[in-house]
Order: sequence, then structure tokens, then C-alpha cells
Amino acid sequence: MDFKVFLPVFYVFFLFSAYSVDSRILSNYSKEARPKPEPHLSLISQISLPPSPAPARAPEPFASAPAPNSPAPSPSVVSSGDSSDSAHIFNVLSYGAVGDGVTDDAPAFKMAWDDACHVDDTATILVPNRYTFLIQSSIFTGPCKSNLVFQIEGTIIPPDGPDSWPKNFSKRQWLVFYRINGMLMQGGGMIDGRGEKWWNLPCKPHKGQNGTTLPGPCDSPTAMRFFWSSNLTLQGLRVRNSPQMHIRFDSCHNIYIDSLHIKAPSLSPNTDGIHVENSTDVKIYNTVVYNGDDCVSIGAGTHNVDIKNITCGPSHGISIGSLGMHNSKACVSNITVTDSVIRHSDNGVRIKTWQGGFGSVSKVTFSNIVMDTVRNPIIIDQYYCDTKGCKNQTSAVYISDVIYANIKGTYDVRSPPMHLACSDSSPCTNITMSEVELYPAQGVKFLDAFCWKAYGALKTLTIPPVYCLLEGIPDSLAPNDGVNQYC
Ligand SMILES: *[C@@H]1O[C@H](CO)[C@@H](O)[C@H](O)[C@H]1NC(C)=O
Ligand SMILES: *[C@@H]1O[C@H](CO)[C@@H](O)[C@H](O)[C@H]1NC(C)=O
Ligand SMILES: *[C@@H]1O[C@H](CO)[C@@H](O)[C@H](O)[C@H]1NC(C)=O
Ligand SMILES: *[C@@H]1O[C@H](CO)[C@@H](O)[C@H](O)[C@H]1NC(C)=O
Ligand SMILES: *[C@@H]1O[C@H](CO)[C@@H](O)[C@H](O)[C@H]1NC(C)=O
Ligand SMILES: *[C@@H]1O[C@H](CO)[C@@H](O)[C@H](O)[C@H]1NC(C)=O
Ligand SMILES: *[C@@H]1O[C@H](CO)[C@@H](O)[C@H](O)[C@H]1NC(C)=O
Ligand SMILES: *[C@@H]1O[C@H](CO)[C@@H](O)[C@H](O)[C@H]1NC(C)=O
Repeated sequence: MDFKVFLPVFYVFFLFSAYSVDSRILSNYSKEARPKPEPHLSLISQISLPPSPAPARAPEPFASAPAPNSPAPSPSVVSSGDSSDSAHIFNVLSYGAVGDGVTDDAPAFKMAWDDACHVDDTATILVPNRYTFLIQSSIFTGPCKSNLVFQIEGTIIPPDGPDSWPKNFSKRQWLVFYRINGMLMQGGGMIDGRGEKWWNLPCKPHKGQNGTTLPGPCDSPTAMRFFWSSNLTLQGLRVRNSPQMHIRFDSCHNIYIDSLHIKAPSLSPNTDGIHVENSTDVKIYNTVVYNGDDCVSIGAGTHNVDIKNITCGPSHGISIGSLGMHNSKACVSNITVTDSVIRHSDNGVRIKTWQGGFGSVSKVTFSNIVMDTVRNPIIIDQYYCDTKGCKNQTSAVYISDVIYANIKGTYDVRSPPMHLACSDSSPCTNITMSEVELYPAQGVKFLDAFCWKAYGALKTLTIPPVYCLLEGIPDSLAPNDGVNQYC
């Protein structure tokens, strides 16, 4: 059920779609204005104009490029920092955006982006309120000279459903940000992915006739993806009804997310809230996610994630993984989730790995978490398999140093409140629990914890009591083995 784009496959699609967008954007510029592409990224780096070496300005199809000192077109503009910054405001309306929810405003957004990208200082791209901008699948490319502020006060929507999606555009992504170093995206506006027609495709789970699931390519776009970017802040926005994942980061560094509201129906398939893959130093604070899949999911190559004050649910909870699919390597470390609430979810805090992978997950802390009617509040699943035919394999992503502290609330009695199913070949080690108190949400019968090959200790008594953690370290695990073996 939890569908995660497999990176290499995705990458091919990315290149392909980069190419298709490029040919559309090309028509807005003279070819001579383009700088030489970098050799191995030639397809990608042509998408929009990187700032250097200062290319000649392409002629503008719309007359009114914003003059310096032009007043802010909307009272809602927030000028960040000193007053000279407010000079560099690039209102998409000045580039011909219509904002009627019908006209494709992607070309206007691209031009505003490209101009803002050339400014030496802070540059604000303004998406004004009281307008709805329809944007086709687009890639916004850096690096930019400026520190960008993407100020979203209005609503941004994609074409409505798969039938309206241009045939020659990738169906896997909608708004893509590529190689951006330093961008603040904020505002009181909304990114509305209009996912409903995608969720109802007959290839989605149980959406075929009489509740069947039909085969077929079922690609649906992620609303926002950030690639190879750094120093990004996303703040205050509402993102809703994505056809698939809402926000995804790949190979990014230094991400700060604050006060986002992400919302999709609980039965919308694969609408993960925030997915972080191969990225470091990620902070997710004060965010609310209601959706139909993982609230936050963390993929391979991700380190130093701090999640605080997140409210999830209904959702599938916060998940590290799935990792190690197709015998792949996964290294994840230093992940903290604190001061959060998880409600009416299939899982609470989860680590899931496929058999046959390698690498490790280490230094994970889940603390001060309230669970409200959660089906698997605490779960490690090293036997993750989304089909019936997974064989037992002898390698596994090694899990160690996991702290569960002050996790309280209720569990849905269909599953045990703690479920630690570790690998036979590389058992989990150093799992600690303190102040874990989980009560049945229905009835009075307490369920037992489940453990398999899980080593660790209780720092305080738990409710229900956990007798099944194994003491010490497993014989099969040599000291200093594991954690740094592959990572
Ligand atoms: C995609 O289709 C649009 C509209 O039919 C067309 O203008 C554009 O050139 C096409 N792009 C590619 C890469 O085929
Ligand atoms: C990110 O920001 C930090 C601190 O402001 C700065 O030192 C670093 O160079 C920035 N990274 C990039 C890639 O711009
Ligand atoms: C759906 O169910 C109806 C009534 O049971 C049946 O007549 C019809 O053939 C079924 N359609 C499919 C595609 O299974
Ligand atoms: C992971 O990110 C690093 C840059 O941070 C990049 O060099 C590497 O290619 C990425 N790996 C994958 C599998 O995307
Ligand atoms: C937690 O996040 C919510 C939702 O954004 C916010 O209203 C609340 O003030 C935050 N709490 C703290 C202590 O920051
Ligand atoms: C762990 O991550 C936090 C940020 O969440 C960072 O401040 C800390 O330095 C990291 N620890 C290590 C050992 O990298
Ligand atoms: C796989 O391993 C598990 C745990 O040891 C065992 O319960 C199960 O029967 C095995 N399955 C197969 C197909 O060997
Ligand atoms: C167990 O994990 C904790 C938390 O990450 C760590 O501080 C401690 O050193 C680990 N203990 C061992 C024996 O590795």
C-alpha cells in the first residue's frame, strides 16, 4: 500500500520530464541568452536560466517588468529584513499571469522566477492573494544569485486530473524546485493539488469496478519536490489534496519547515505528508498533517532530522522507511521526534525495513508523544513486504540505539501496542523504553507487547509491561559490528 518512488526509476523520469518542460520554456527565450549547460546535467540545467555568467536578458513578451521601487502590489507582502529588500518584488501578475484558475500561468511564473533568480540581493516572487493560478507541471531551477523569497498568498492549482494533464509531461511531479540554495517559501496561500480524480483512478487500491484494483501505470504527481537544494525554509503554507505525496525532498541539505498545514482525506491513497530522502539537517516544527498515508516518512541516506510539535492524523504515522528494498543499502541516523500527537492512525512511530537490505538505522529518539487510538503506536517491522511473495533473506538493515520515552495514550485493539519484529540475522540492539503507557482505546482488555529478536532494556516499567525484550547483545553480533559497517 505504501508506495515509494524508487529513486533510479524516478531519476529517469525526472530527466525525461525536465526535457519536456524545457522545450516549452525555450520558446520564451532566445537561444543565445542561454549559458553553456554543465556537461552531465545538460538536459536539466537548461530548464530555466541560471544567473551566471550574466546572460543577456531575453526580450520580455509582457511589457511590464517590475520597476525598482514599485510599490508592493498587495498589502500582504511581507518584506523580510531591511527595507531595500522590498525593491526586488517580482509579482507574477506583472509577467502576464491571469490567475483565473483556467489559463496556464506557468510561463509567467517561470519568467518571474528567472528574473528574481538574477538579482544579487534578496528577491521576492509574489503570488498575490485573491487569485487562483493554474500551473502546469514545472521545474524551477537554480542556482540563483539571490536569496529567494517565494511569497505565496494566492492559490496555486495544477490541471484538474489525469485527463487534463498534458500527455507529454511526466505524471510523477507537478512543482519541482531544483538546485536552489537559499529560499524562503511562505505565505498565507495554498497549494491545492486537486487530487481527487487521481485517487479515483481504477488502478488505485479498490477503485476499480466492484472494489477491484486494476493494473496499469498509475503514476500520480507529487505536489512539491525539492532536489539537490539547500537552505530552504517552508513556512505557514497550506498544502492540500496532492494526487500523491505532498512534499518530497531528495538530496537536500538544511531544510527548515515550520507551521505547514497539510491536508488530504484519510482514504486518499499514497498522499504522504512530507517525505525526506537522502537529505541532512532537516527540521520539521509546528506542523499539522491529515492524510491518507505516512505523516512524515524518512528514506535512505537521511541524517539529523528533528521533528517537533507535529500533529498527525488521521494518517499512517511517522515512519522511518521502508528501507532496504531490492537488497539496497540504507543508512539513516540521528532522527528525533518529540512533543507530538498522533491520532487515529494505522501506525504511531514506525521503523520498517525489507528483508535483504543492508546498512543501518541508529540513534533514533521518539519522546513526549501522545497517541490517540493508534493501531500500532510503537512498531519496528523488519519483515516489511507489500506483496505476498517476500522470501526470508539473511541480510537486513541493522537497527540500534532507539529510545522510546514518555509515549502515552491509547491504542486501537486490533494490534498490539508495541510490536518489535526484528531481523533473525541482525537483531535490533539497544532499544530502551521509559514512561511508555498505552491503554486500549476500546474495552478493558490489555494486549501484550510483541518482540522478536529485540535487545534492549526498560528504564521504567511500562504499560502494558514488556517482558519480551532480550538482555545484552546478541551472540551473532560482534562488538562494533553493524552501525558503521556499511554506513
Ligand atoms: C507537449 O505538448 C504541447 C502541447 O501539445 C506542445 O506545445 C509541446 O511542444 C510538447 N512538448 C514536447 C516536449 O513534446
Ligand atoms: C547555507 O547557509 C549557510 C549559513 O547561512 C551558509 O554558510 C552556506 O554556505 C549555505 N549553503 C549554500 C549551499 O548556499
Ligand atoms: C460487479 O458486480 C456486479 C453485480 O454483482 C456484476 O454483475 C458485474 O459483472 C461486476 N463487475 C465486475 C467488473 O466484476
Ligand atoms: C545523495 O545526496 C548526495 C549529495 O548530498 C549526492 O551526492 C548523492 O548522489 C545522493 N545519492 C542518491 C542515491 O541520490
Ligand atoms: C504547535 O503547533 C501548533 C500548530 O502549528 C501551534 O498552534 C502551537 O502553537 C505549537 N505549539 C508550540 C508549543 O509551539
Ligand atoms: C543530530 O541532529 C541534530 C539536529 O536534529 C544536530 O543538532 C546534532 O548535531 C546531530 N548530532 C550529530 C552527532 O550529528
Ligand atoms: C521466515 O522467518 C520467520 C521468522 O523466523 C518464520 O516465522 C517464517 O516461517 C519464515 N518464512 C519462510 C517462508 O521461511
Ligand atoms: C544506547 O543508545 C543510547 C542512545 O542512543 C546511547 O546513548 C548509548 O550509548 C547506547 N548504548 C550502547 C551500549 O551502545
